[in-house]
Amino acid sequence: MVGVAIQSQPQLLSLDDSLAELALLAETAGLEVVGHVTQRLQKANPKTLIGSGKIEEIKHLVHELDAQVLLFDDELTPRHQRELEKTLGDEIRILDRTALILDIFSQHARTREGALQVELAQYEYRLPRLTRAWTHLARQAGGRGRQAGVGLRGPGETQLEVDRREISRRIVHLKKELEKVRAHRERHRSRRRRSRLPVVALVGYTNAGKSTLLNRLAEADVYVADQLFATLDPTTRRVELPGGHTCLFTDTVGFIQKLPTQLVAAFRATLEEIAEADLLLHVLDVTHPHVYAHAEAVLQTLEEIAADHIPMLTVLNKIDLLPDPESAARAVAVFPDAVAVSALRGEGISALLEAVNRKLYESYEYVHLLLPYREGGLLSLFHDQGQVERVEHERDGILVCGRLPGRLLARFQSYILDETYVE
Ligand code: GTP
Repeated sequence: MVGVAIQSQPQLLSLDDSLAELALLAETAGLEVVGHVTQRLQKANPKTLIGSGKIEEIKHLVHELDAQVLLFDDELTPRHQRELEKTLGDEIRILDRTALILDIFSQHARTREGALQVELAQYEYRLPRLTRAWTHLARQAGGRGRQAGVGLRGPGETQLEVDRREISRRIVHLKKELEKVRAHRERHRSRRRRSRLPVVALVGYTNAGKSTLLNRLAEADVYVADQLFATLDPTTRRVELPGGHTCLFTDTVGFIQKLPTQLVAAFRATLEEIAEADLLLHVLDVTHPHVYAHAEAVLQTLEEIAADHIPMLTVLNKIDLLPDPESAARAVAVFPDAVAVSALRGEGISALLEAVNRKLYESYEYVHLLLPYREGGLLSLFHDQGQVERVEHERDGILVCGRLPGRLLARFQSYILDETYVE
């Protein structure tokens, strides 16, 4: 493994901690870690990321340890990849965190949409990086594309060009397939929206215990494993709250620091489900030494997918592993709106359901809205379930002031005005 700290790019985790996480990812992907090197740099070497002295050190170490894969903790640009392959030779396969996560995702995708999304992200990642060394891998993963690539070579075309063309063709095909699957899911989603049941999405760092919590909440049987990214596709369960209301809880893909942008883009549609939730449960493994960095990484990703406006409860999980009850209380005091639970043992679950109930049905917030005239449906929803105090018909929309229940805030979010604007 190769870890690099670049002075101008501050990271959430220290070099060593990030490498420890990379080792866990590597294990999840079925690799055995035999050694690591690190380098601190003022700025990245545009050609090879790391310096030439470090490359020599790596050559030596690779030989000594008989390593087969060189794994970079940071995303390599296509140029880095090419130059490193040139310098280090054919024997060693060079991967980065992004390629590794893509690989883990491809092993864990369980629905057709998940599998298509990952395959597309893999091809898009590989296309600009295609070199002699990559050709073989790309074809292996391509499966169906393999046969087509052979024998289709046009006059004067190199194998590399054929492969590039084949991959581009496959990308177009995958995008079309995805569109079909999405149209189908969109129909489901609008049916669910019409059912008006509030949706509570579980979000959190990978391995925080989201699936375990969903199991516990719904006594459902969702796949739980002590592995990173065991859950790739959202699973939804119907749960009855203490007040007698019913809502839907949905499990989502785990987040991680340095989550490759390709993946965020690939999973945008899946992640959009999060952005449409009425409430988020942010699940944290409170026993993890980097729980704060994890929380930060999750909040950053939520911001990236425009879901940071949704009301949120923080769930501090795995309290059964804490040495004393005070540490749970201390952690609860740090996070706003936090509930401490053990998803595994069931402690705190009824308090959590109470908190969800309160957040969805008992908490009201004062809002100023400017609703476009076409959103008449939302205005009647406000009248129906909120407390309207003032309505004024303006030229560019309907100005509404009043109190809205927490569970509806997300639906009105795009029309909420700043106080200052209203003044
Ligand atoms: P991803 O799929 O990676 O996003 O993980 P996840 O957040 O869904 O985590 P998951 O529920 O798969 O749990 C990860 C590991 O933590 C499993 O080994 C669980 O048994 C364990 N775990 C979850 N909740 C608790 C808990 O309350 N206490 C203890 N001791 N272990 C827990």
